[in-house]
Amino acid sequence: MRSIVILTGAGISAESGLGTFRDKDGLWTKYDLEEVATPQGFAANPRLVHDFYNARRANAAGASPNAAHEALARLEAEFPGEVLIVTQNVDSLHERAGSRAILHMHGALDRARCARCDHRWEAPLVMRPEDPCPACSQPATRPDIVWFGEFPFYMEEIDTALSQADLFVAIGTSGQVYPAAAFVQEARMAGAATLELNLEPSETARAFDEARHGPASRVVPEWVDSLLG
Ligand code: APR
Repeated sequence: MRSIVILTGAGISAESGLGTFRDKDGLWTKYDLEEVATPQGFAANPRLVHDFYNARRANAAGASPNAAHEALARLEAEFPGEVLIVTQNVDSLHERAGSRAILHMHGALDRARCARCDHRWEAPLVMRPEDPCPACSQPATRPDIVWFGEFPFYMEEIDTALSQADLFVAIGTSGQVYPAAAFVQEARMAGAATLELNLEPSETARAFDEARHGPASRVVPEWVDSLLG
């Protein structure tokens, strides 16, 4: 086996204290996603959207990687082939655990973007609608986050990696958001073995060859140990 592609979702960061979206008490049970995670919501009330992401940025900054993030960093360091993490998460816990090959397909909380000129820069802890873009000076600052109705980032790189993968692993994702939910099918069609590691069977559980269910901080290190022997 030479190439592993790992898709991660909110479940891998749950035990670091960051809420998931669709579980009981998840973010989408407390907030209206149309209001805080769509371009239309941002156009209608940019302050509300910035406040939502400011709160999430503060939570993420105060969180630490858990044993699952650490196990994936160890896998990348010790596996003799390629390990790529494709994450739907906007926190930086994979980086902080030591992983290097990471694609943030849904963007990142610590990045800001200008909605006018597309310039990107490091986000301050607190962002406001009136903040000017450092490149074009327009007050069009937005979080560098992919909202519903927008195209995820790095899709070409991800498609290429999936087409070459020998093993595809999904960790802590409910399989309800596309295109990420279709990666298992894409990897299978390309001949990869597929494994789900999740607290419970996801929406797409039946599409996987194998599944191990339990908290990520337990099942991910166990899987990495078994793979590295
Ligand atoms: N260990 C492993 N899995 C867990 C844990 C845990 N400790 N806790 C929860 N889970 C699982 C849940 O069972 C669920 O299947 O993680 C999954 C989390 O699902 P979602 O909340 O839907 O998160 P995710 O799949 O990452 O959401 C995808 O939706 O709103 C968007 O853009 C946002 O990137 C996000 C996308």
